[in-house]
Amino acid sequence: MSWLAICPLEDIPPLGARVVASPNGDIAVFRAADDRVFALRDQCPHKGGPLSQGIVHGERVTCPLHNWVIDLQSGEATGADSGCTHAFPIRVTDGQVWLDFSGATGDAADDTAEVPVACREAG
Ligand code: FES
Repeated sequence: MSWLAICPLEDIPPLGARVVASPNGDIAVFRAADDRVFALRDQCPHKGGPLSQGIVHGERVTCPLHNWVIDLQSGEATGADSGCTHAFPIRVTDGQVWLDFSGATGDAADDTAEVPVACREAG
C-alpha cells in the first residue's frame, strides 16, 4: 500500500467528486451525503464516460453519458448492465482524504494481494 494525502474532505463537495491524476489515468474521488468517500477510475465501464461528472446518490453514481448506475464500493455496474471499473482503497483521517495509489501505478505488483479490488476493468 502507498497511501498519499489527496486533499481535505471539505475540498470535495457533498454528493460531488474530485479528480486525481495518476500515472495510469484519472481517479474520481466521490463524497457521499454521509461524508464517506469512494475512489474509482474515472472511466465508466460502458464507454468510458467521466464518472466524476455523474450524479452521486447513496453509494452509487449515475454516469452522465448514458445513465448507467455504478456501485461506488465495487465499481460494478448495477441493474441489468454489466461491467466494472477499478476501485481504489480510500480513507479519511482527521478530515484528510488518503488514497492508495498502489493499484494505479502498475509498478506495485507485490502489493496486489493487499489491494481490495472487487473487480477488474472492463475491456
Ligand atoms: S459511458 Fe457511462 S453509461 Fe455510457
